[in-house]
Amino acid sequence: MKDPSRELALTKLKTLIDEFFKEELSTTYPFTDQGLENKPLELETRLEHFAWILYVKPYLKKVIDWCIYSRERENYTYELTQANIAHLISWVKIILSCSYEQANTWINEIINNTALKTYYRSYISQLDTKYFDLDLRYGRRMGWYSLVRGLKPKLVVETGVHLGIGSCVISAALEKNMQEGFPGKYIGIDNNPYAGALFLNSPYKHIGEIIIGDSLEILRTIDCKIDLFISDSDHSLSHEAKEYKLVSSKLSSNSMILSDNAGGNTNLLDFANETNRDFLYFKEIPLNHMHKGAGIGVAWNKVIPGHLFTTF
Ligand SMILES: C[S@@+](CC[C@H](N)C(=O)[O-])C[C@H]1O[C@@H](n2cnc3c(N)ncnc32)[C@H](O)[C@@H]1O
Repeated sequence: MKDPSRELALTKLKTLIDEFFKEELSTTYPFTDQGLENKPLELETRLEHFAWILYVKPYLKKVIDWCIYSRERENYTYELTQANIAHLISWVKIILSCSYEQANTWINEIINNTALKTYYRSYISQLDTKYFDLDLRYGRRMGWYSLVRGLKPKLVVETGVHLGIGSCVISAALEKNMQEGFPGKYIGIDNNPYAGALFLNSPYKHIGEIIIGDSLEILRTIDCKIDLFISDSDHSLSHEAKEYKLVSSKLSSNSMILSDNAGGNTNLLDFANETNRDFLYFKEIPLNHMHKGAGIGVAWNKVIPGHLFTTF
């Protein structure tokens, strides 16, 4: 239910901001739509104007929208553009050696998972904290979901759980796999004692567990084969590299390794080269959000079909 006085205040604020920008443009830059023909400009001014119109203003608008409409202060969530979702489908298709239609089906499966969205909204609504938005937005996690659906892993390990959005998305995929006769388990690791609350209260909690502790220490204690490893904890170069080193001997032969950090370094690419795996990167393009987007790095064994059980 929208609060009319808040809505009115927001509309006024937006009008003020729009007017500010109009004013700013007409004074800082001595041309408007009408003035362009009769006032030739210095090249430098034209370039500044070009940058302002093309990059700065649209970005500022996204920042302002985020300030007004979002409560999130970390681990931002957002939708992806339609084109970006199509790129993701094609990326999944290549990794899993499946058809575009099959990859599309998996992406749509998580997009249309209304039970998870409804659970998220009701869980967030009853939290005391004001730092989460009510809408569940998956972003790149749609790619995680599809890879779990295609790979049919028996064990998925994710380092860095936060609230547990990834945990729920992965477990939703594992549950579907289980319904199709391919059981699998999820382990999430986080050093924050409150991490994973969304997952631990969810209908998916029977699919796995959250272990609290430093990811390096906990990974050392895991003694089963890992089919899908997702690194999303401490994003420092050395910590991420140590995680790959630690899990290296625990990975099953057809395993996949995903990184949430692969856009900023070559850790996973180096690991892929060292262990004779292929590497690909998917870059997010957020829809109407000020975040520039993260991505998914994947290292996998292309010569073996990209899944543990041949089902398609
Ligand atoms: C980006 S968030 C993870 C987001 C999550 N994967 C998702 O899908 O929403 C990073 C998490 O890593 C955790 N973290 C940071 N350093 C860690 C460490 N050394 N060991 C375990 N967890 C760590 C933080 O507490 C935080 O919850």
